[in-house]
Amino acid sequence: MMNEQLTFALSKGRIYKDTLPLLEAAGIIPSEDPDKSRKLIISTNHAHIRLLIVRATDAPTYVAHGAADIGISGKDVLMEAPTDNLYELLDLNIAKCKLMVAGPAEPKPVGHRLKIATKYLKSAEAYYAQKGEQVDLVKLYGSMEIAPLIDLADYIVDLVDTGNTLKANGLVPMEHIADISSRLIVNEHAYKTKYAQINEIVEKIKSAVV
Ligand code: ADP
Ligand code: PRP
Ligand code: MG
Repeated sequence: MMNEQLTFALSKGRIYKDTLPLLEAAGIIPSEDPDKSRKLIISTNHAHIRLLIVRATDAPTYVAHGAADIGISGKDVLMEAPTDNLYELLDLNIAKCKLMVAGPAEPKPVGHRLKIATKYLKSAEAYYAQKGEQVDLVKLYGSMEIAPLIDLADYIVDLVDTGNTLKANGLVPMEHIADISSRLIVNEHAYKTKYAQINEIVEKIKSAVV
């Protein structure tokens, strides 16, 4: 059977770096390094397989719309995104970190509702709802660690790995919300129409997950 065009959405940086050995296990070798090239559509050693280099937060969107058949996305991103039209098939055990509440080592007494700065609105909302705590959420897109230092918020909800970023900004990890790793996602329709081709790649990647 002829191979159909297969499109992979992934982001550069840590996801790309950690995904390379998994792609290699599936016999897929990118023709360029996206961390060096400015190209956003990268061909591979297979004429019918190409990579889209997208923003980490956009990978589920490409896959949900079928613009990419397969994608790799952090669980933190998937928890915020609408996940209709896609399957989460594998935990790749890469880009591991924790979603946590963090704040000053010696929190000031607050006379108001807690203010929480985060880019993870859905996850933070669900977490505080489950605790039965009413909080005000402030949406930020990055550098959340600044917020408690200048009284934009009392605490942050953000990713923590080594804890170095918190430490460098005089903050401490406080409450664990979720363990995060990256997942292989597949467009539902493509998984049906290109099943044999996609499944072969998924199985090879699966056996290379450490
Ligand atoms: P962005 O530019 O969107 O922040 P990243 O490459 O930093 O992209 O993050 C991509 C994914 O890697 C995140 O969605 C998350 O799952 C994971 N991640 C983010 N920060 C860390 C970290 N410090 N250590 C390990 N994994 C991380
Ligand atoms: C991520 C995350 C934290 C930091 C945590 O930022 O948003 O700031 O890593 O890692 P650590 O506990 O090991 O310090 P990233 O390095 O991805 O920077 P950016 O997303 O703001 O570009
Ligand atoms: Mg980042």
